[in-house]
Amino acid sequence: MEISPGTRAFITGASRGIGASLAAALAARGVTVGLAARSTEQLKQLADDLPGEHYVLECDVRSDESVREAIESFHQQAGGIELLVANAGITHYGPFRDEPLSNALEMSEINWHGTLRTVHYGLPYMLDRGRGQVVVISSGAALRSFPWAAVYGGTKAAQRLFAEALRHELSGTGVSLTTIYPGEIETSLHDHERETMPDWYRGSDAAPPAELAAKIIEAVEADRRAVYFPPIVRLLQLVHNISPKTGDAMLRRLRGGTAAPRKD
Ligand SMILES: NC(=O)c1ccc[n+]([C@@H]2O[C@H](COP(=O)([O-])OP(=O)(O)OC[C@H]3O[C@@H](n4cnc5c(N)ncnc54)[C@H](OP(=O)(O)O)[C@@H]3O)[C@@H](O)[C@H]2O)c1
Repeated sequence: MEISPGTRAFITGASRGIGASLAAALAARGVTVGLAARSTEQLKQLADDLPGEHYVLECDVRSDESVREAIESFHQQAGGIELLVANAGITHYGPFRDEPLSNALEMSEINWHGTLRTVHYGLPYMLDRGRGQVVVISSGAALRSFPWAAVYGGTKAAQRLFAEALRHELSGTGVSLTTIYPGEIETSLHDHERETMPDWYRGSDAAPPAELAAKIIEAVEADRRAVYFPPIVRLLQLVHNISPKTGDAMLRRLRGGTAAPRKD
């Protein structure tokens, strides 16, 4: 799908991180953006800072009503939607046996059910016009899940499998879908748990979100099935698919023993 001035994009989780960077990159291309998240002050600031006219939409992806209203409101105000980005997400990293169940359920509710709600309420607007692109922000963790991120990986894999099938289902409708598999990106995703991150995590190497945003736009315009960024994410998937044991060995070399403690 060509992205041009006048294109209308709805983005969940636009208040910071990848969502805010994507909003900025789209606004620079003349896109009208529906900025959806809970932190409306941050969204207002972003809308003021970006070139062009944008819409601030208070939205909690844990609620059906909230997502439905935010998308409906954007559609009414902007006059349409061509790009729908399911991006909102959170993490709680830690050993599964020690994690409160509420953390696991919150991740499922936001990362996976939030994606479902966004696509459920946004897709019909694009299908009615026979034009548009859905973007699902999954994770490299959907391709090979990591210790201490078992539930996070599960939510990201759910997004991945949903998106994989839906891209095929949309064939011939004029609407398509691109899935994004980011590795470590420099955002505030782990700010609440910096002190307790697993040893395999390497926040210092994290890639700038603006680089990922540029890749997403390129992929939407080329109707790519997926984006793997940085490219090592793709290599990890290939090796893991051929031989999980070899994938584990590769991860031990790259990230140390905590990335794959078992050798059987
Ligand atoms: N950063 C990485 O290394 C990385 C790697 C792979 C995948 N990802 C994925 O990228 C996506 C964006 O994460 P990020 O790294 O940009 O993190 P971030 O900087 O923490 O941003 C997360 C965004 O999600 C929104 N959000 C959280 N809970 C929400 C809710 N209940 N309703 C609506 N919005 C909500 C936040 O807005 P409010 O708090 O204002 O609601 C915020 O705008 C996530 O799906 C994440 O899993 C990130």
